[in-house]
Amino acid sequence: MIIAIDGPAAAGKGTLARRIAQIYNLNYLDTGSLYRAVALKLLRLGSDPTNFELAVKAAGSLDDIALDDPALRNEETAEIAAIVAANQAVRAALLQYQRDFAQTPTGAVLDGRDIGTVVCPDADVKLFVTASAEVRARRRFDELAAKGIQTTYDAVLKDLEARDARDQGRGTAPLKKADDAHLLDTSKLDIEAAVTAACKIIDAA
Ligand code: CDP
Ligand code: CDP
Repeated sequence: MIIAIDGPAAAGKGTLARRIAQIYNLNYLDTGSLYRAVALKLLRLGSDPTNFELAVKAAGSLDDIALDDPALRNEETAEIAAIVAANQAVRAALLQYQRDFAQTPTGAVLDGRDIGTVVCPDADVKLFVTASAEVRARRRFDELAAKGIQTTYDAVLKDLEARDARDQGRGTAPLKKADDAHLLDTSKLDIEAAVTAACKIIDAA
């Protein structure tokens, strides 16, 4: 079984994907961490975010990058991830890794922006998880505050909207709901309610 979860920033994709992986015994890949890893590598090399040649090289040697590095979660890393993610060659360099991961015999759940449309167009279940920009910004702000990162709600909202616009507007693999994806708006759902709604969709598939 392959489950594809897409949606904008801080919609609750990762939280949901982790829970679904536990419940259905699937492997889980947070594909955003791959783009973040490429971004972090550029940052640490002091490189320009638009040095796509270097970004492709980094994408080709993912083993060098710890996918659990806390710096991956920084907003600065996310911004640069969205810049490198708009580049076709960078996306191409990360595609096979994601497809191979999805093909594990155990089955897999992947979350990102183009899982249902590009990476796993034949996924058994596709979820497009979303929430209002205000709710998403509040969630991301609370997360950053809990980590002691100083920022404001308004700054988080602005960054998140700019990143969503970049992800939706790019020419290659833009963020959009696949025609056959189930829409799950979590604006008014807590995590438990979102998990219950997702399981209902999966069990009916
Ligand atoms: O992966 P994505 O960026 O879409 O979001 P996430 O990291 O799963 O969730 C962002 C934050 O929202 C986390 O702190 C979650 O605990 C929280 N969340 C929530 O409050 N209610 C939900 N229904 C889903 C997530
Ligand atoms: O956690 P959050 O939802 O804020 O972001 P993420 O899922 O870690 O993704 C970071 C950035 O990577 C996104 O804003 C996209 O630009 C890019 N990305 C992508 O283009 N395609 C994916 N499948 C996953 C992430």
